[in-house]
Amino acid sequence: MGLLSKLFTNCAHPKGRMGKLMLQFMNTCHAPLTNWGLDLVNIEDRWTMLDIGCGGGATIKRLLKRSKDSHVYGIDISEESVAKARKVNADVLDKQVFVVQGTADKLPYNDEHFNLVTAVETVYFWQDLPKCFNEVHRVLKKGGRFAIMLEVVETDSKWTNVVDGMVVYPPEELKSMLEDAGFVDTEVHYKKPSYATIIGTKN
Ligand SMILES: C[S@@+](CC[C@H](N)C(=O)[O-])C[C@H]1O[C@@H](n2cnc3c(N)ncnc32)[C@H](O)[C@@H]1O
Repeated sequence: MGLLSKLFTNCAHPKGRMGKLMLQFMNTCHAPLTNWGLDLVNIEDRWTMLDIGCGGGATIKRLLKRSKDSHVYGIDISEESVAKARKVNADVLDKQVFVVQGTADKLPYNDEHFNLVTAVETVYFWQDLPKCFNEVHRVLKKGGRFAIMLEVVETDSKWTNVVDGMVVYPPEELKSMLEDAGFVDTEVHYKKPSYATIIGTKN
């Protein structure tokens, strides 16, 4: 594996020193996509929210800022990501912010718990997407929304050559997978250069 590939494979599962660097980088460089995507969801005060594949925890912080008296949960497969997300949200950790290690296909939360679930730049790496989407649907409250944000939407993208295990799904395909999992009022939004946000609502 080349150096570039090694570095970018830390997007899929951040580990060690390179993982730490990548998490720091992603916390900053995913801000424009995340802020645009979150603007599309009318976030209200006192919401309970979950960010899956939370990486270095910047989305958790952004969610918290948009909802007064909220509770924000984060989950990530990587130990390094969990540590960074906890550090970035240390001031409110275990009071308003709760971060655990785990995977999208087996969410350790009760049914109908969240008003909003977000997934920023992460579904490319999830195993068994239909199972994961069923899990998201299960943990959402009725009327709750799921927002998937992506920067890579071309299936033959240069990224899939350098990031091990990355699968790019066209936004329209994700929309139809959300419908298969029971989501309604599904929407796909695009913004230049290559941003997409796919939103579904639990009925
Ligand atoms: C490209 S990073 C994005 C991190 C963060 N969402 C952001 O926008 O900066 C992808 C993250 O998804 C996590 N991840 C990959 N597969 C996962 C899975 N099946 N369940 C939960 N997290 C996963 C990785 O460990 C990594 O932290």
